[in-house]
Amino acid sequence: CGIVAYIGHQAAYPIILKGLKRLEYRGYDSSGIALYGNQIESYKKKGRVSELESWDSPILQEAHAGIGHTRWATHGEPTDANAHPHQSNSGKITLVHNGIIENYASLKAELIQKGYTFKSETDTEVLVNFIEDIQINNNSTLEEAMRIALKRVVGAYVIIVLEEGYPDRLIAARKGSPLVIGVGEGEHFLASDASPIIEYTKSVIYVNDYELAIISKDDIILKNLGNEPVTPYIQQLDMELAQIEKGGFDHFMLKEIFDQPASLTDCLRGRLDVSNLTLTLAGVDQHLSVFTQAKRIIMVACGTSWHAGLIAEYMIETICRIPVEVEYASEFRYRDPIIHPGDVIIAISQSGETADTLVAIERAKEQGAFIFGVVNAVGSSIARLSHAGAYTHAGPEIGVASTKAFTAQLTVLAMMALKIGKAKQSISEEAYKHYLTELSQIPEKVQVILSGHESIREVAQVYAEANNFLFLGRGYNFPVALEAALKLKEVSYIPCSGYPSGEVKHGPIALVDETLPTMFIATKDKYYDKIVSNIQEIKARKGKVIAIVNPDDSAIRGVSDHVMEVPETDELLAPLLTVIPTQLMSYYIGVLRGLDVDKPRNLAKSVTVE
Ligand code: G6P
Repeated sequence: CGIVAYIGHQAAYPIILKGLKRLEYRGYDSSGIALYGNQIESYKKKGRVSELESWDSPILQEAHAGIGHTRWATHGEPTDANAHPHQSNSGKITLVHNGIIENYASLKAELIQKGYTFKSETDTEVLVNFIEDIQINNNSTLEEAMRIALKRVVGAYVIIVLEEGYPDRLIAARKGSPLVIGVGEGEHFLASDASPIIEYTKSVIYVNDYELAIISKDDIILKNLGNEPVTPYIQQLDMELAQIEKGGFDHFMLKEIFDQPASLTDCLRGRLDVSNLTLTLAGVDQHLSVFTQAKRIIMVACGTSWHAGLIAEYMIETICRIPVEVEYASEFRYRDPIIHPGDVIIAISQSGETADTLVAIERAKEQGAFIFGVVNAVGSSIARLSHAGAYTHAGPEIGVASTKAFTAQLTVLAMMALKIGKAKQSISEEAYKHYLTELSQIPEKVQVILSGHESIREVAQVYAEANNFLFLGRGYNFPVALEAALKLKEVSYIPCSGYPSGEVKHGPIALVDETLPTMFIATKDKYYDKIVSNIQEIKARKGKVIAIVNPDDSAIRGVSDHVMEVPETDELLAPLLTVIPTQLMSYYIGVLRGLDVDKPRNLAKSVTVE
């Protein structure tokens, strides 16, 4: 989500509206603005930010303070009611929020008992009423109530709050989500990043976690949650607008690759509780018996999402002992597939709009199958058509070549496998505990790989002019080889193929000569020794070998031309790590070849036609 606020000598509405348009890349399924004129008035709409241009009220000229929000839904579909700003029951407090409140369900239950009512399904409306409740009970200022409330809130947030009776003041707070304050002359700007601010001022303050900012047109007071003052540190921006939108990265694809430690944390947030060894996935919990009694699971997807399905096949068969089939949606929809009672269909889609996937599950639904959606875009067509689902919460993905959506899909599918396996008792307590612990460490291990991006770029430079590329892996890393081949093909236009390494001798080995680079995805697992032999077969034919290995590897290092390291994890979760260097290498090669990696030729982000 993106948030913007303004307080100062100019009319607030046009500044906020323009700011929201600049932030639309952060999410755009609904938006809203609240302005403080004689009193607080809000306007919010489902759809793009431009919907807010239909607001017609004298307040648009009168108000000099206001807050705005463009939403990328997490809790509740994109609707007018779920759009921000949200107002407390008394109407005194209005706020916008970016982030996720993990313990909103228990806070909501508490508030409902006290008689609070809710117009939306959002965690944000819970937060605004929670603050109001504390303010009333303690007879305190808004600022005090926010401090108390935020100490009890679990999750990530940035909020900006307007209070009836205080037209000259905004209060903002942050934990885990970004907030920038633009410092002007007799005016201040607040936003999720500097892109809405930069045309007015280059002096900015980055608010830190657990800080509260009390802002009027002439003053900025920063405090921590313990009510101690913090000295604001004003910095000068020297970035261009386009760079800021991309978080300082040159392309969305690179930004999204680097987003992964955070997007995976978001995906796990409120679901994986490693200290209590619990997994909460509401969509699975509510239909647990459908899964435990499933005779067969069919994954339906396209492109990168289909590769996530292939990996999930291995995960689910291993952990749950349920047979899994993985189907290309474009095939499944036309081939009159046999659907039995007790079959579960899992549709995997980033956009939730891919026409082939949508039609495929419509057909299966007509035949009585239970449809479960693993979707990134909340409220999208596939999400709505499914009987139940689990969102991947990776945030909007702008680069056409999918990166962070893929790892979030794998994470959700791994959680599903573990949840079902535990319920079916098809894995031991000990194994369950081991997987949960390993899964919780994935985001930091991804970070470790990203920190080594420079050495991956150097390898990319060596092979940027290649005319052909082969990707090989076994077991869980076989679908990673397919995904790596797809990614490089998409952004570099180099012909690439991916195979299980055991298959090489049945054909692809004919391609091998001294000009062909072969990437082996070869982390430590039960296939390791076999992979070493496969590498030797390639080397014996003068092929060039790049290998993705674990740090303590020596056998493969000895026979490869280049290696890329990823930290060790269980083989079942290895794809979450091994795919990262392949994403980076594809990106660097695409850029080195002078191509538009964010918008490769002939491709589309969301394919809503057959
Ligand atoms: C398009 C995109 C791919 C994506 C595929 C499936 O081809 O370019 O990156 O993997 O569609 O999209 P979905 O939104 O259903 O995951």
